[in-house]
Amino acid sequence: MRVTVPDHPLIAHKLTYLRKKDTDSPTFRRLAEELVTLLAYEATREVRCEPFDIETPVGPTTGLKLSTPKPLVVPILRAGLGMLEGMVRLLPTAEVGFLGMLRNEETLEAVTYANRLPDDLSGRQCYVIDPMLATGGTLAMSIRYLVERGADDITAVTLIAAPEGIDALERDLGELDVPIRLVTGAVDEKLDANGYIVPGLGDAGDRLYG
Ligand code: PRP
Repeated sequence: MRVTVPDHPLIAHKLTYLRKKDTDSPTFRRLAEELVTLLAYEATREVRCEPFDIETPVGPTTGLKLSTPKPLVVPILRAGLGMLEGMVRLLPTAEVGFLGMLRNEETLEAVTYANRLPDDLSGRQCYVIDPMLATGGTLAMSIRYLVERGADDITAVTLIAAPEGIDALERDLGELDVPIRLVTGAVDEKLDANGYIVPGLGDAGDRLYG
């Protein structure tokens, strides 16, 4: 798995305000959206395109357009929904599929409770979005699920990640034969005994949606 942490002062600035405990919900939502647009710029660097012949007012030229099938954006409910607008701002023609996953706060295991994805993802490039990668259980299960349905190129986009979660993803997904990338706004210090990211930003789902 390739991990990219884009080094940009605007990402650091917005993340700092997102982490602040007295940032209110409307501001948190706006910052999450703005951050994902900045991260999406990096995450879509290898989005599949094909040559496209056009006429400018001056003459013919060949540019690029997104290939079909179009990329699939998969927000992990609920907190991933807070990143959807920011992501489709850059990829307005992407298809969107939904996965509802919940982490059992005692066992820290991920459980799927909703699934609205195309059945066949053969040859699809997928962007999985979720604000937090903590133990990695949620993203590992989601990515495995997409690969089982045929997805052949996966980029996960998170606002923050714990080193333990990145290690777990590398362990769990190492044998999959598809390229997997992670683009994250920051790699934090650690996970605490309750599975919370330190310093983190608290519970993204609660801060977005109460
Ligand atoms: C949070 C977060 C991730 C997951 C990360 O969701 O948005 O989906 O936990 O944890 P993991 O890496 O240890 O699996 P949560 O379960 O709180 O659900 P919510 O988005 O509905 O609030």
